Amino acid sequence: MSYNLLKGKRGIVFGALNDMSIAWKVAERVVEEGAVITLSNTPLAVRMGTTDELAKKLNAKLIPADATNVQDLERVFTESMEALGGKVDFVLHSIGMSPNVRKKRTYDDLDYNMLNTTLDVSAISFHKMLQVAKKLDAIAEGGSVLALTYMAAQRTMVGYNDMADAKAMLESIARSFGYIYGREKGVRVNTISQSPTMTTAGSGVKGIDSLFDFAERMSPLGNASAADCADYCVMMFSDLTRKVTMQNLYHDGGFSSMGMSYRAMQQYIKGIDEFRDEEGNIIYG
Ligand SMILES: NC(=O)c1ccc[n+]([C@@H]2O[C@H](COP(=O)([O-])OP(=O)(O)OC[C@H]3O[C@@H](n4cnc5c(N)ncnc54)[C@H](O)[C@@H]3O)[C@@H](O)[C@H]2O)c1
Repeated sequence: MSYNLLKGKRGIVFGALNDMSIAWKVAERVVEEGAVITLSNTPLAVRMGTTDELAKKLNAKLIPADATNVQDLERVFTESMEALGGKVDFVLHSIGMSPNVRKKRTYDDLDYNMLNTTLDVSAISFHKMLQVAKKLDAIAEGGSVLALTYMAAQRTMVGYNDMADAKAMLESIARSFGYIYGREKGVRVNTISQSPTMTTAGSGVKGIDSLFDFAERMSPLGNASAADCADYCVMMFSDLTRKVTMQNLYHDGGFSSMGMSYRAMQQYIKGIDEFRDEEGNIIYG
């Protein structure tokens, strides 16, 4: 159902790889709400993924770019303004990748070159995006910029590895840049902290199935899906949230405020004996 919340607005959506991607759902939803958009992803993702199908379906220009490369980002913003006929009103950063996670390096055995890549792709790219946009004056007054994050930035989650550090940095960039961009150009910058979601990036997280199930049982409203996230992004891009900035917004069915739920407790009781060694001692961790 469309409320025409984004009628006449122009946007850029980074990170739609396939129809499971959160960015894919956001792109479909913002167009449904009346926006015109461009799409961007890495040249490799454009070749290997199905982003071009989405671009055709939504009548959106697809601009290949590595979000860690400043010149590429300049091209995305310049070509988007040309294609859309003016400054953009909203931007979605839906980008994350950790080579340490991919190569199964544990957090106490990180490869530091890989850590640099994790931080560059998953966090510093957001700063680069904001800095490029501001220098080009590419975002209209009252515009809204969002990045997607995860609660492992606040609380340790088994298996999330160096992505937790990247997300902490991403959220900090939203606050630091949000101050400057808000003060000087009236542009809002926020992060949405999303439930575990079954996507290509999500499935790289060790034990995602159990994490997904645990979060589902812990959250009074259940996990938020990619489609739910798209709805939240529409609201954040709309004029209904003009005074919301520099926030990390939890979109997780209540998970972040829970300690223990009835459902999780029942599951815990069933499985408690599995966490003892041969001598019957409890294994902590
Ligand atoms: N899936 C989850 O459980 C979950 C939960 C909370 C937050 N998030 C965040 O949501 C965002 C989107 O992830 P997703 O789950 O939809 O997975 P996804 O794999 O569909 O999307 C990740 C995207 O990042 C892109 N990307 C990687 N390196 C890039 C680079 N150098 N330049 C430009 N793009 C690059 C990929 O091509 C891909 O399109 C990520 O920031 C992720 O951390 C995901």
